[in-house]
Amino acid sequence: MLEIRAVNACYGKIQALWDVCLEVREAEIIALVGSNGAGKTTLLHIISGMLHPVSGSVTFLGRQIDNLPPHSIVELGISHVPEGGRVFPDMTARENLEMGAYPSRAWKHRVKTIEQVYQIFPRLKEREKQLARTLSGGEHQMLAIGRALMSKPKLCLFDEPSYGLAPLLVAEIFRTIQSLRDQGITVLLIEQNVRHTLEIADRAYVLENGRVCMEGDCAELLQSDHVKKAYLGL
Ligand SMILES: Nc1ncnc2c1ncn2[C@@H]1O[C@H](COP(=O)(O)OP(=O)(O)O)[C@@H](O)[C@H]1O
Ligand SMILES: [Mg+2]
Repeated sequence: MLEIRAVNACYGKIQALWDVCLEVREAEIIALVGSNGAGKTTLLHIISGMLHPVSGSVTFLGRQIDNLPPHSIVELGISHVPEGGRVFPDMTARENLEMGAYPSRAWKHRVKTIEQVYQIFPRLKEREKQLARTLSGGEHQMLAIGRALMSKPKLCLFDEPSYGLAPLLVAEIFRTIQSLRDQGITVLLIEQNVRHTLEIADRAYVLENGRVCMEGDCAELLQSDHVKKAYLGL
């Protein structure tokens, strides 16, 4: 579904990604693991078109996308839940959801899609008229996920969706991500909660200093001495 080949990415003179290769197959959950500053967010920005690689390529469903602007990439079926959610604070929850439906193929279905989002997160229906800035941290994150779903994505990118949430909510976010995969949405997931992530994902890539240093099935990575020591605190 998604193929990243030998991507190098820079912020000015600082190189953040080095020869990164990554592959996502349909209906997989792929985890991206790495400590702060490893380049995880940068890689999601490359996929969603917010940053263009200096070399290498990104292909989605057979089409090269690394030269496209973000809105065209959303149109093709990739949706991004950014770090911290980043909803529109002075719009209501419902207006935020409607904003997510701007691709033409999603706009005509928006009323039905909002109902589906409300089924996943009933709390958002209760809060639909409330300004986003008055929502709790958990509701805010649900809204960010809901807004991403409004574009009817084939591939959803999540950047630390459970960051700062209470344990019960963290579990709910993980369950939601699993249920998206069960509905056929492919997921690329960045999470600090490495054990939980490797338990729900199919395969994972470990990024260190902007390079992929390990990749494989999650069951194998959970057994790896390096992963245990560096990311599981064992
Ligand atoms: N907008 C930016 N300008 C300059 N450097 C940046 C910017 N964003 C990230 N970086 C640098 O790129 C590297 C990777 O950052 P990032 O992708 O945010 O890592 P992660 O998400 O894994 O914590 C870090 O060294 C970071 O300081
Ligand atoms: Mg990050």
